[in-house]
Amino acid sequence: MVDTVSIDTVSSKQQERAMETEMNSIDSSERITLVLGGTGKTGRRVAERLKTRGIPTRIASRSGTPAFDWNDQGTWEAALDGVTAAYIAYAPDLAIPGAKEAIHGFVEKAVKQGVQRLVLLSGRGEEEAQLCERVVQDAGVEWTVVRASWFNQNFSEGEFLGMVLEGAITLPAADIPEPIVDVDDIADVAVAALTEEGHNGEIYEVTGPRMLTFTEVAREISHASGRDVRYVQIPNEAFASAIVESGAPEEIAWLLNYLFDTVLDGRNAHVCDGVRRALGREPTDFAEYAHRIAASGVWKLAA
Ligand SMILES: NC(=O)c1ccc[n+]([C@@H]2O[C@H](COP(=O)([O-])OP(=O)(O)OC[C@H]3O[C@@H](n4cnc5c(N)ncnc54)[C@H](OP(=O)(O)O)[C@@H]3O)[C@@H](O)[C@H]2O)c1
Repeated sequence: MVDTVSIDTVSSKQQERAMETEMNSIDSSERITLVLGGTGKTGRRVAERLKTRGIPTRIASRSGTPAFDWNDQGTWEAALDGVTAAYIAYAPDLAIPGAKEAIHGFVEKAVKQGVQRLVLLSGRGEEEAQLCERVVQDAGVEWTVVRASWFNQNFSEGEFLGMVLEGAITLPAADIPEPIVDVDDIADVAVAALTEEGHNGEIYEVTGPRMLTFTEVAREISHASGRDVRYVQIPNEAFASAIVESGAPEEIAWLLNYLFDTVLDGRNAHVCDGVRRALGREPTDFAEYAHRIAASGVWKLAA
């Protein structure tokens, strides 16, 4: 037993040294950081921050060059060429059936192709997402998990913007509080994990600084924007049929039902310190976000 442990320790040290040597032998201009979901809410901000720091960055999505599609493994090799670190934002969500298999296949390929650091965006309170986290944790390379609560930006560039513009956030959620988080904070944490030492092996549970119910979210948006926005709770069945009628793809309909039916039951109703632990500062408050977005004009109705 003792022998096995010491052999394992020696071989993992050797592995570490071999990886260091390999990393040093890669020309720094070839050390590309891949940003999966790089045109989305978090990925776009991660990519912008990396580029500002002068880090060679490749945006990966179906509209990227080369194109990357989670549903087409044939697109993965080219996206990974020359990549040493990757930010993984899986679309549409780590909870959907098949996500774990996709993450497993991608991570295996990434490590084979020389990726040495993985940063995974995950969701709080989703058992399926936690299985995907384990895949990244077991990959044998440096890893960080950024486990996020609901995003502020769902109300300004995501699924709920249309409802805000209509003046009624109409969802099946009971008025359960959620410590929603600003996507700019998530991007700061992800970039720190991608570019700095000291984040290996960390699970950063990132939330905003306080909990808000949907009613309170609507009130904050009204206050900041000067428009009347209300929260209207509707029955699950009415919500489910509205999604189907809107023509949303089956997996999105499944996902929204799962999120409201299963995840939003109060299990995430506590604030966490991931932003402070990763960055040494407090997370952004929803009121600050709401004033910023109101000032940008996103919540103004088209004339
Ligand atoms: N929204 C929340 O409140 C919340 C909370 C916690 C965790 N999360 C997690 O956040 C992740 C989504 O990240 P996000 O909000 O930053 O992204 P997003 O805004 O939802 O955008 C999706 C991104 O993925 C790309 N994409 C979509 N389908 C793809 C496919 N089949 N293959 C490759 N790329 C694809 C899109 O670009 P193209 O269209 O060009 O392909 C886009 O870049 C999910 O895993 C979700 O679980 C979300």
